[in-house]
Amino acid sequence: MMKKALIAGILAWMLGSSSTHAQQTKKSSILSDSIWLDTQGQVINAHGGGLLYQHKTWYWYGEKRGRSQSEGVNVYSSKDLYNWQFEGLALSPSQDTTSDIAEGCLMERPKVIYNKKTKQYVMWVHLELRGRGYAAARAAVAVSSTPAGPFTFLKSFRPNGNMSRDMNLFVDDDGSAYHIYSSDENMDLRLAKLTDDYLSPTTQDSLLFRRQREAPALFKNAGLYYLITSGCTGWAPNQASLHTSSSLFGPWTLVGDPMTGPNANKTFGGQSTYVLPVPGKKNTFIYMGDRWNPKDLKDSRYQWLPIQFKDGQVVIEWVDNWNLQQFNKKG
Ligand code: GAL
Repeated sequence: MMKKALIAGILAWMLGSSSTHAQQTKKSSILSDSIWLDTQGQVINAHGGGLLYQHKTWYWYGEKRGRSQSEGVNVYSSKDLYNWQFEGLALSPSQDTTSDIAEGCLMERPKVIYNKKTKQYVMWVHLELRGRGYAAARAAVAVSSTPAGPFTFLKSFRPNGNMSRDMNLFVDDDGSAYHIYSSDENMDLRLAKLTDDYLSPTTQDSLLFRRQREAPALFKNAGLYYLITSGCTGWAPNQASLHTSSSLFGPWTLVGDPMTGPNANKTFGGQSTYVLPVPGKKNTFIYMGDRWNPKDLKDSRYQWLPIQFKDGQVVIEWVDNWNLQQFNKKG
């Protein structure tokens, strides 16, 4: 009798675990453009995102989208960059209709950095006020004492009075942080140094170039700054470009399109959002982009590709299915 019960128990356990197994199969590679599920089997909803590495964990912040609407900022965590656990809504739109982030507002391209002095996680997003399309062109700042949040909204503004749409954050080796943003109806790309607490722009804020670029992704390798941007064609893909500079405020030199291979001149159908330096690995960076689906924004796909350096320049090639071991091949 006991034996039968034991066998039945084992069978039930096996059946039970196999039914969830399909959803929770452990992933060990990156497959751009396919549907990415979190560890609960739900589609990952984190667009225009950015990553933060803290306590041996990656946190991925991105736009939570409905079919067209913006529903706040989601956050996921991972130990390996392949398997992502949903941590919740890091920043929620407010029920208060008088708030800058009142439900119906647009929160785009969220990025989070950690401030060692204040021990705060600081989030910046491109904010558009509810019912005003893209006219407000503001940046919003929110803070949390933990990486998964929830973050508390502090304020929104136009940095030094400038329009601010697509944006990113960058922390340099000395701990100084910067906000890079498309301004003047996206004609200009500007950079502002942040205050020591990372909560506000300083007046050290200047034009990098006037070439109608957006989706900036800034990173540094061996003393050189690299900047990937897209053109301005809304959700439709266009040609990426790479600029380099030995100093953040320029002069920036246009290098050309860093993408290579089929569909490279349309950024593989996507648009840049972030470049991730892989911790503990020299010269190792991952390009992150979005392949937007304007008919159903939440179904937009992720494009994560290894960055290669050839003769000191960045080369990004489409790779169907890859993992971090790819970087060990480089000798
Ligand atoms: C893109 C921009 C996106 C979003 C979109 C709206 O150019 O990069 O973040 O704002 O326009 O059309």
